Amino acid sequence: MRYEKSEKIYEVGKKVIPGGVNSPVRAFHSVDRTFPIFIKSGKESKVTDEDNNTYIDYICSWGPLILGHNHPEVNKAVKESLELGSSFGLPTKREIELAELVIKCYPSMDMVRFTTSGTEATMAAVRVARGFTGRNKILKFHGCYHGHSDSLLVSSGSGLLTDGYQDSNGITDGVLKDTLVTDFGDIKSVIKILEKENVACVIIEPIPANMGLINTKKEFLKELREVCTKYGTLLIFDEVISGFRLALGGAQEIFEITPDITTLGKIIGGGYPVGAFGGRREIMEMIAPIGRVYHAGTLSGNPIAVSAGIAVLTHLINKKEVFYKELEKKVDYLVEKVVKLSIKHEVPICINKIGSLFTIFFTEKNEVVTLKDSIESNTSHYSLYFNTLLDNGVVAPPSKYEAHFISSAHTYEDLDETVKIIDLAFEKISLDMKKN
Ligand SMILES: Cc1ncc(COP(=O)(O)O)c(C=O)c1O
Repeated sequence: MRYEKSEKIYEVGKKVIPGGVNSPVRAFHSVDRTFPIFIKSGKESKVTDEDNNTYIDYICSWGPLILGHNHPEVNKAVKESLELGSSFGLPTKREIELAELVIKCYPSMDMVRFTTSGTEATMAAVRVARGFTGRNKILKFHGCYHGHSDSLLVSSGSGLLTDGYQDSNGITDGVLKDTLVTDFGDIKSVIKILEKENVACVIIEPIPANMGLINTKKEFLKELREVCTKYGTLLIFDEVISGFRLALGGAQEIFEITPDITTLGKIIGGGYPVGAFGGRREIMEMIAPIGRVYHAGTLSGNPIAVSAGIAVLTHLINKKEVFYKELEKKVDYLVEKVVKLSIKHEVPICINKIGSLFTIFFTEKNEVVTLKDSIESNTSHYSLYFNTLLDNGVVAPPSKYEAHFISSAHTYEDLDETVKIIDLAFEKISLDMKKN
């Protein structure tokens, strides 16, 4: 049996860890599997599971591994750092180095604070916005995920949608009351809300990737910037996924829009736990110990994680646009072939892509632009796609609400092999469509 060891590990795991996993999407529930694969190791574009099956990996740790698994430059930095000790609870020079690299790429930031996760970064950013404006309410968009802090878990996309619900239990009415939500792209409703309510901040994924990938219209972000400025509401760009992935300066560089606060994560830790939030000096100087907005962390700016981040950012900064162009070329190569396969097998799909991210929606629609479009895409076709790929050595995201990630370690042979397997998957979907 191909997944025998993974199944055995899961039997033990589910007794000691809820669902046997430490993050729900890893459980593979929405792709009709009763247990996940357990990963033993990763190298370049591939991961190997406990049964010694090897897969071309399109999860890439959900984004951090833009250089692929086990990159020698990252490993070298981590090993050197390890020799010096793990963590001190006192500042290190390396944190300043990483801060300087981040600020260099994000002109909207004069200062940056490090955390251990994207969740902490967005949670602290919202607190700072409340402290700065003296307002309580915040506004977010349906389907945008900003981590699992209480106030941001309302209508928050991928993980919850994957499990079939919109909001988490365990959040107080008070918190729910202070989180306003509207539709992504609906500037009229944003204006109405900001006119009526005292809103501290609008938080947004400038390119949403947690309801499947959705392409954003520049005009919407431009208007959002203007209306936030008009009403004294801070604009937070959550670039935990898009930061350093779409360009060195993330979505804000591509769209030429300056947010008040930016949150980062994933790539800036190179596979190790780092998040960050930053913005203008007057905002960031609200933070303790110089201001009265508290943010802290035993492992915030952990030297080993920070060293990994420095290695990755240095690599990206040295390669500049060429790096991103090459990644995009790979996605274009793959997507073009997948579209041809969909025509060959008469399987209706719509692919959204930007840079090194893409989502395949199984839908008759020509465009997927809203959360509703994404929800309405075919879940069982996605499941057939995922399972055929997994059984043949390719691991795609185990939910239709996520994006595929590509790294610089993915080769054109990997892409050709992936296309062959997608051919099989589409053949199965086509047969399934004829049956029904
Ligand atoms: C846009 C966005 N913001 C915040 C987060 C939370 O980051 P973390 O999982 O590191 O807490 C995520 C996680 O996927 C994310 O995609």
